[in-house]
Amino acid sequence: MVKYIFENKKNDKFDAKIFLFDKKEKKFGTYFEENLSKNELTLIKETIKRENFPENKKDFSVISVGASKVILASFDESKADDLFFQKLGGKLSNVLFESEKAVYYVREKAEEAYHLAYGYELGSYRFDKYFTKKESSHYSTLQSLSFAFEKEKLSEKAYADFSAVASSVNLARDLVNEPANVLTPKTYADEIKKLKKCGLEIEILDEKELKKKDFNLLMAVAQASDNKPYVVVMKWIGNKKQKDFDLALVGKGVTFDSGGLNIKTGSGLEYMNYDMGGSAAVVGTLRALALTNSKANVIGVVGLVENAIAGNATRVNDVITSMSGQTVEIMNTDAEGRLVLADLLTYTQQKYQAKKIVDLATLTGAVLVCLSKAYAGLFSNHDKFAEELLKAGVQVDEKLWRLPVDEHFNKMLDSSVADMRNIGTSRWGGSSQGACFLQRFIDEGVQWAHLDIAGTADEDKGTDLNPKGATGFGIKVLYDYVKNNF
Ligand code: BES
Ligand code: MN
Ligand code: ZN
Repeated sequence: MVKYIFENKKNDKFDAKIFLFDKKEKKFGTYFEENLSKNELTLIKETIKRENFPENKKDFSVISVGASKVILASFDESKADDLFFQKLGGKLSNVLFESEKAVYYVREKAEEAYHLAYGYELGSYRFDKYFTKKESSHYSTLQSLSFAFEKEKLSEKAYADFSAVASSVNLARDLVNEPANVLTPKTYADEIKKLKKCGLEIEILDEKELKKKDFNLLMAVAQASDNKPYVVVMKWIGNKKQKDFDLALVGKGVTFDSGGLNIKTGSGLEYMNYDMGGSAAVVGTLRALALTNSKANVIGVVGLVENAIAGNATRVNDVITSMSGQTVEIMNTDAEGRLVLADLLTYTQQKYQAKKIVDLATLTGAVLVCLSKAYAGLFSNHDKFAEELLKAGVQVDEKLWRLPVDEHFNKMLDSSVADMRNIGTSRWGGSSQGACFLQRFIDEGVQWAHLDIAGTADEDKGTDLNPKGATGFGIKVLYDYVKNNF
């Protein structure tokens, strides 16, 4: 664990010193010269001349001075917003991998230090628990990242909210990266239960309870697995005077998606342990709201099931009566996420009178065809709600793109023997079909948004803020939305 130090300890010994280097003005940031020795200054001048930095378009120039490093980060004043500093922090996590004590000289505003540390916390995340040999590519040696600033006092306290979000994103990443033999619905529910210590109210419904409460679609997905299903309800009551919930978050928590009888083949099965990414975003958001003492009342409901295959598996053409009373003809057992979510949505509305709902799910491969891994699909029945979410997404760099949910796709779900089928009669617009299925379980007057995060829940290569593997996508955008709207 890296320690972030916000006191001015300029005279400490550091083995890495980080400065901004203004691209346009071609000059170092504030306090530059006074914090470097003559020897260091000459070396730096020689190196940047030789490397042609920053014209070489590299983000950094790393200059070794004996056993320590001076790192110059190229920067453009006109583009230096909060996200710039976050991404810079993320990038630094790769440059600082072999240092122990680093210091960053803050230029102008205290805020930039917090954004940089936040980016570092997100970008330096690694899922390394299963490596038995310590290799430097897996383990960062950095122990502390200090921030030196002369103008005003930086404070640890001011960073606490940033850290609460970053650690919640990293917790969600841990859950999603965890293999399905370790993270079963049961062990997952146990992990969520631990969040009671953050001030969340947590209720766990087991199989017996789920049967009694008519979670029939969810049970139809779960029934072939030896790992029994759970539904977990998390509540954050930030405003005790208010009875109802400002927002409900509903998440798909399929701990492994084999496809069921419509079994996935070959590489289609790979990373299907990530199929609980929607639920992890719900868990992480509630944790972040609790740790930052949000004034809002938010409820999270997640359905934890494994979509397995066995003699007692749900078949194609089976008809199931959902909790809502509507009947569903199962036409594809691999379209299981919508079945899990449908009962969760009904439960959230009936039991908790939710009037504003966001559901999150790794729902369709089709959303990747449509939006690649650059955007999550946003589907909504309410323009203002959708706009607010889109705006939050831009602010935190978890981008959403609105896609249609309308009659064209909805009618594809009509069945000849039941109220609806769980997949459409054609492949086209698969993500919108999924959204239309969910909308059939949304009551009149309820504002609803569905985020299809099948593409954004994980990164193949890694970006500045999202290392390879699970991203924890959804927490930053929902946290920002709640902070700005309630
Ligand atoms: N969990 C998958 C969606 C998915 C695919 C997530 C690839 C991440 C990467 C979902 O349950 C699924 O299997 N969807 C089917 C729907 C189809 C049967 C209508 C799909 O996308 O193929
Ligand atoms: Mn599936
Ligand atoms: Zn799935």
